[in-house]
Amino acid sequence: MKEKKDVLILAIESSCDETAAAVVRNGREALSNVISSQIELHTLYGGVVPEIASRKHIEKINPVIEAALGEADVKLEDVDAIGVTYGPGLVGALLVGVAEAKAIAYASCKPLIGVHHIEGHIAANYIEHRELEPPFLCLVVSGGHTHLVCVRDYGKFEILGRTRDDAAGEAFDKVARAIGLGYPGGPKIDRISAEGDPDAISFPRAHIEGHPYDFSFSGVKSSVLNYINECRMKGISWNQADIAASFQKAVTDVLVENSMRAAEKYGFRQFAIAGGVASNRALRRAMAEACEKRKIRLYYPSPVLCTDNAAMIGAAAYYEYRDGVRHGWDLNAVPNLKLGER
Ligand code: KG4
Ligand code: ZN
Repeated sequence: MKEKKDVLILAIESSCDETAAAVVRNGREALSNVISSQIELHTLYGGVVPEIASRKHIEKINPVIEAALGEADVKLEDVDAIGVTYGPGLVGALLVGVAEAKAIAYASCKPLIGVHHIEGHIAANYIEHRELEPPFLCLVVSGGHTHLVCVRDYGKFEILGRTRDDAAGEAFDKVARAIGLGYPGGPKIDRISAEGDPDAISFPRAHIEGHPYDFSFSGVKSSVLNYINECRMKGISWNQADIAASFQKAVTDVLVENSMRAAEKYGFRQFAIAGGVASNRALRRAMAEACEKRKIRLYYPSPVLCTDNAAMIGAAAYYEYRDGVRHGWDLNAVPNLKLGER
């Protein structure tokens, strides 16, 4: 199973509502990728309840890790290092993974490597695209983040643009709730949009003066809410699919436009998308078209590697490990960890 020169990372991810563990070989191959999702539990409340998330992580983390080692057919003693997400995310949720990783690393005398969650999302692309190497431009779009990142090298990032308010996924979730689709909103809007007309309603596309790579999604979200309220007041019915499709188009248009502007300005020939929203079919289609026009090579992970998982953390941890990064037993959860801090 393990060649002498292979590096095996046992990775743990618990920053939000997925308890996940994976074994990753040489940063590029997921030998296992076990995810225990709490989505059904949080659906009852219309969103993630942090205290419930932490408690569920505690229940699930040991069985999930055992399953990850079992599915990979790897013994803990064969693992070279333990990687774990230590931020950003929900502090109580992160703490479960960090404490677990520290305990395993300490007891088994293995190095401990803390990983930035966004670095993990970016690294999901390494697993499915073995040929992808930095430098490349990456759009990270998830429930908590919308960042346009220049990946200069493994572990070396420069943020070119970010959202000024809501993250793209957050906007999907809020709009889905407003139009009665429920939680989690992104996949539901993706699905129902296929039946709607993306040009039915004109929602605003925000551009931030002097900051061509930044984003803002609170305007489009408010505009959807206003549209619904107006319909209610006038007593006219509104079409869920048309609203979803038009909103999705407004968001994807801006994501594509700003990304392509940055790719052209900085001369990138490779462009990747990552994070939960990167599994959105309309976004993938629009990005594929825009990249083809510019002869830019586009990469995206399959949906299971777009949303939170531990294989992506194992891939990122491998490059940190290779560069000599080691964390001490004082590693703590950092809910607002900045990308590039080690
Ligand atoms: O990466 P992720 O699992 O967690 C964070 O790090 O935030 O992303 C979750 C987000 C949620 O907001 C969810 O609604 C969104 O990704 N999402 C989608 C789709 N699948 C997940 N948004 C749009 N279209 C999708 N197909
Ligand atoms: Zn995430």
